[in-house]
Amino acid sequence: MNTETTESSLPRTINEASELYRTRIRIGYTKTCDCPPNHLNCMTAKEWVKSQVGVRQFSYEGRDIRDKNLHPATFPISLARRMIELFTHVGELVVDPFVGSGTTLVAAQDLNRNAVGFDLQEAYIKLCQERLSSNNFFNQAQQLAIQDDALHIDHYLEPETVKLIWTSPPYANLLNRKRKNKSRRGVERKNEQFGKVEQYSQDPRDLGTMPLEEYATAMGDIYERLLPLLQPKGHCVINVPDMWWENERITIHVALIEELRKRGYELRNTIIWDRTNIVNGIGIFGWPSNYITMGTTFEYLLDFWRPPD
Ligand SMILES: C[S@@+](CC[C@H](N)C(=O)[O-])C[C@H]1O[C@@H](n2cnc3c(N)ncnc32)[C@H](O)[C@@H]1O
Repeated sequence: MNTETTESSLPRTINEASELYRTRIRIGYTKTCDCPPNHLNCMTAKEWVKSQVGVRQFSYEGRDIRDKNLHPATFPISLARRMIELFTHVGELVVDPFVGSGTTLVAAQDLNRNAVGFDLQEAYIKLCQERLSSNNFFNQAQQLAIQDDALHIDHYLEPETVKLIWTSPPYANLLNRKRKNKSRRGVERKNEQFGKVEQYSQDPRDLGTMPLEEYATAMGDIYERLLPLLQPKGHCVINVPDMWWENERITIHVALIEELRKRGYELRNTIIWDRTNIVNGIGIFGWPSNYITMGTTFEYLLDFWRPPD
């Protein structure tokens, strides 16, 4: 099916039962600001200088979803906002292939950017909808949440319309086990997450069910199909940590860099998300003989782009 829909007829969410399922959507993607054509974003020189720092902290705010029962793994709105400000102008189009609770869409709404997010789970798409319903007055762009496998995003969008692909994907199957809360101290260890499996679903399409190698290939397949949608020199930023599994460091970021390079992306920057301001009550690891850094204290923001033609 390839019928076009008009902007006014589009609901904010599209689910698998909808008649709009897997059709091209019409959504704005050109900048509406009057920045010069060679500018990457709307930042002033002063703001640009601040953004050059490669290690950054971000804080959660009142509107952030911190309730693990609603969604187990959200990033802060302030982080999504910073990525969108860095790599887009007002009016341009952002895609989040693994949108979860819709944090990217909320940030896009704040910043007047068009955005589309995808997720397998109907409950998360509904959560996106709820969060978007408090639309701000200045938002003239559109933000949509679509229930579908990220593998099918190319059915919905025209080539070379996307300015930024930004997401935090599942971390292979590393969360698909009962939580032992080893990183927590004292009473914190037996908190309400203890013993729970904080995985999004057991759907075989869910990247959070896959062992690392299979996961890297599945991510490669998704991102290969996303590449033609991206404008040349458009950025693609992926937020991932590395993790410990049975005393072995699982380097998810290395697997993704290698895979995306194979699929035509070029790595531009590695930014470190310093999380020391949001983790507390850390347990002791490895002392006195086995040095182990706390994985929860930082994550990678891997910044790729589609190389210029
Ligand atoms: C780390 S979460 C994203 C959280 C999001 N950044 C937020 O702040 O809420 C990853 C999401 O990917 C979704 N997911 C897993 N496999 C998928 C697939 N093949 N296609 C689309 N979404 C998928 C999961 O349901 C989950 O919500």
